[in-house]
Amino acid sequence: MKPISLIQFLIEERRAGRINAELSLLIEVVARACKRIAVATNKGALGGVLGNAGSDNVQGEAQKKLDVISNEILLEANAWGGHLAACASEEMEDPQPIPDMYPKGNHLLMFDPLDGSSNIDVNISVGTIFSVLRCPDGITEPKVEHFLQPGTTQLAAGYVVYGPATVLVLTFGHGTHEFTLDREVGSFLLSRRDVRVPEETGEFAINMSNQRHWEAPMQRYIGELLAGTDGPRGKDFNMRWVASMVADVHRIVTRGGVFFYPLDAKIKSKGGKLRLMYEANPMAFIIEQAGGAATTGRERILELQPTGLHQRVPVFLGSKKEVEIATHYHREADGAQS
Ligand code: AHG
Repeated sequence: MKPISLIQFLIEERRAGRINAELSLLIEVVARACKRIAVATNKGALGGVLGNAGSDNVQGEAQKKLDVISNEILLEANAWGGHLAACASEEMEDPQPIPDMYPKGNHLLMFDPLDGSSNIDVNISVGTIFSVLRCPDGITEPKVEHFLQPGTTQLAAGYVVYGPATVLVLTFGHGTHEFTLDREVGSFLLSRRDVRVPEETGEFAINMSNQRHWEAPMQRYIGELLAGTDGPRGKDFNMRWVASMVADVHRIVTRGGVFFYPLDAKIKSKGGKLRLMYEANPMAFIIEQAGGAATTGRERILELQPTGLHQRVPVFLGSKKEVEIATHYHREADGAQS
């Protein structure tokens, strides 16, 4: 059967009453912008887009040229359609208002324009992550406080992985769906409807170089996985770490697995490594809608009340059983301490 396009999928979601015309347009615009980012990343050294931009972002991280280019592509694409009240990005300290010359819509868009950008120069997959919220009623000039809504209120979330194929994974809260870019036609085509993350897995993703800095329950959990057939879990586990969250999550969405960026002594004062609003929340929404689980090791990510636009949190997500065991170890350790 001929695969359906993203546009057809969005029209069907509208007809089913699951999204409105404005949200449909928003997703179309984001997907179009991501096609442009895919073109820019694909050019590699030939496009003059590799290397540092010579500036730092709001978090004090060196920006890559492609971070800046991707951010501009997303901002420009989303400015004029009338579907947004404002945008916020990893690359900008404050929300970006919609220019006065354009109509405003009822949605708030947050994104990490190019996640895993340290991988760009070595030609490893990178991605874009986005989250969509409703702008609170009566707010025409959204401020940071209007973005600080728990992940449970997200209307849509998605990511695009720029790998051997460019793939969009999307949820509106009715399952998680995958679209693959047909480069000749220029359209995203539905490649998997209602993807499922198996409850059990034998594969985990974590940056093992941080092991000595982890908290005791994390040491315990990973120690048990590493012990393999001789340990309490009684089976061998495999490990993968791309260091592009989008690529690691996409592997989990494709064949299962579990991903951890836990708290450790080096990043404790920051609250974690990954950003809640445009990394953890959208990925948690996507993973839960695919039947997986997502916590901070203590709480469900989607229920956190955000306190800052660039807030960081620990992230445990993927196959339900493993997230539950690791979370249980942390809660148990907290209980034992109190
Ligand atoms: P950035 O967007 O700044 O490149 O961060 C990448 C994130 C995430 O994509 C990845 O899982 C993690 O940072 C990798 O961190 P380590 O380098 O500490 O392994």
